[in-house]
Amino acid sequence: MDVSPHPSEAAKTTVTVLVTGANSGLGFAICCRLIDEFLFTRPQSQTLYLLFSTRDTRKGNDTLRRLNAHLQKTIRNGGRDHLVETRVELENVLVDLTRLLTVKALAQQLLARKQRLDAAVWNAGLAGWTGIDYWAATKEVFTSVVQATTYPEFMIGDVGALAPSQLSGYGSVHTFPEPGLGKVFTANVFGHYMLTHWLAPLMDGRSRVVWISSTSALPHLFDVEDLQGVRARMAYESSKRLTDLLVLNSETAAARREVETFLPSAKTADGGQGGRPKMILTHPGIMVTNIVDSSWWMVIGMLALTYLSRLLGSPWQGIQPYKGAVSACFAVLAPPSQLQELEEREGKGKWGSACDHWGHERVARMEVEGWGFGGELGVRPSGSVSTSRPGRREPTKESREEFEEVGRRVWREMEALRIGWEGRLGRVEVDA
Ligand SMILES: NC(=O)c1ccc[n+]([C@@H]2O[C@H](COP(=O)([O-])OP(=O)(O)OC[C@H]3O[C@@H](n4cnc5c(N)ncnc54)[C@H](OP(=O)(O)O)[C@@H]3O)[C@@H](O)[C@H]2O)c1
Repeated sequence: MDVSPHPSEAAKTTVTVLVTGANSGLGFAICCRLIDEFLFTRPQSQTLYLLFSTRDTRKGNDTLRRLNAHLQKTIRNGGRDHLVETRVELENVLVDLTRLLTVKALAQQLLARKQRLDAAVWNAGLAGWTGIDYWAATKEVFTSVVQATTYPEFMIGDVGALAPSQLSGYGSVHTFPEPGLGKVFTANVFGHYMLTHWLAPLMDGRSRVVWISSTSALPHLFDVEDLQGVRARMAYESSKRLTDLLVLNSETAAARREVETFLPSAKTADGGQGGRPKMILTHPGIMVTNIVDSSWWMVIGMLALTYLSRLLGSPWQGIQPYKGAVSACFAVLAPPSQLQELEEREGKGKWGSACDHWGHERVARMEVEGWGFGGELGVRPSGSVSTSRPGRREPTKESREEFEEVGRRVWREMEALRIGWEGRLGRVEVDA
């Protein structure tokens, strides 16, 4: 498929970015920060074409209004003239990641335009928590505020929750019963996974697929025998560990075969290899957003504890989504010398939004248990942030090998799942 810049910008360079879950929290902040950083760091000849997804048009219109208001404020505060405004184009697209037919519809819509995709930010996600175990929370807070706010394990998960039926009511192409899909798994990982595969023809070796993980993606909360986290006590954390395993293994030998079928290498116009997009792993640190369905007194309590945790030295308490967005925006906009080439030299990293005591944010690598900072035992690239956690396993040769072995298994299972679901949903057709 021959992909080109947005037609209205053929003479200029258009940078096209898709952000999911843009109507609130981190997703909205990523859009705002992308606009700001793009306008102030990229040449005048470049335009940002920002596609932002919501689940319905009402949320889409509201988000568009708020993004436009943000753009105006940026222009006013930066003392720029209003021509700058034309360097940002905003468009709402719709998708519900737990409904794979809407994922397919979005892919079809974007493929039909043949507009190259520079980056996709897979931000949308749900936690699926039903409440808080107050006894465990109190114990965790009194044992260590930093641990309790960085790696909370007191949330109550909705064990066994499944995504809605994918085929009933849509004129199924296959026979029932369809296999169930874990709800949190589908929203956080599988919906995005299918979208990545379907949008691959719009991407090449310069494109970036940015995944959002979490500090709480801990190994003991993921069981490879329960990939979808349906039996997991904490399906959200399980989905985030799965994200780490997928992205960090996307360039290891373990998953080479699966990655080749998942993301076939693009062809250049002259039939050469255009390369495959890079999967980049990020996490926003801890922010106060709607992901926890809380009453006002809970929000105040969470704010107080996260500020205290920051003062006590936790590097991951950005608190405000705009600060949390720094790592995802870095993953989209950093020049290759600061990202792809760095990862080639120092290993693939989990890029976190770190913060000092005063709330100044920056991007820093976070250690991933079993992988380290860049996949090499004992190597800690400069600028990385070390964090300790009770129960953390010291990295060993065996744990590093295990990370890759589990990576191999999850890639194999994800690909089998994708192929199965493509069969049920029907393939996305791409015009020649
Ligand atoms: N908050 C934190 O401290 C924290 C920490 C680490 C990682 N994260 C990650 O940051 C990302 C954003 O979370 P947030 O904290 O900003 O929460 P949020 O304010 O609740 O935002 C979540 C976004 O995802 C959308 N979404 C949820 N389920 C969806 C689905 N099935 N299909 C399509 N969109 C869906 C939501 O849309 P609706 O409004 O329509 O529901 C909303 O736009 C998530 O991936 C989360 O895991 C957050």
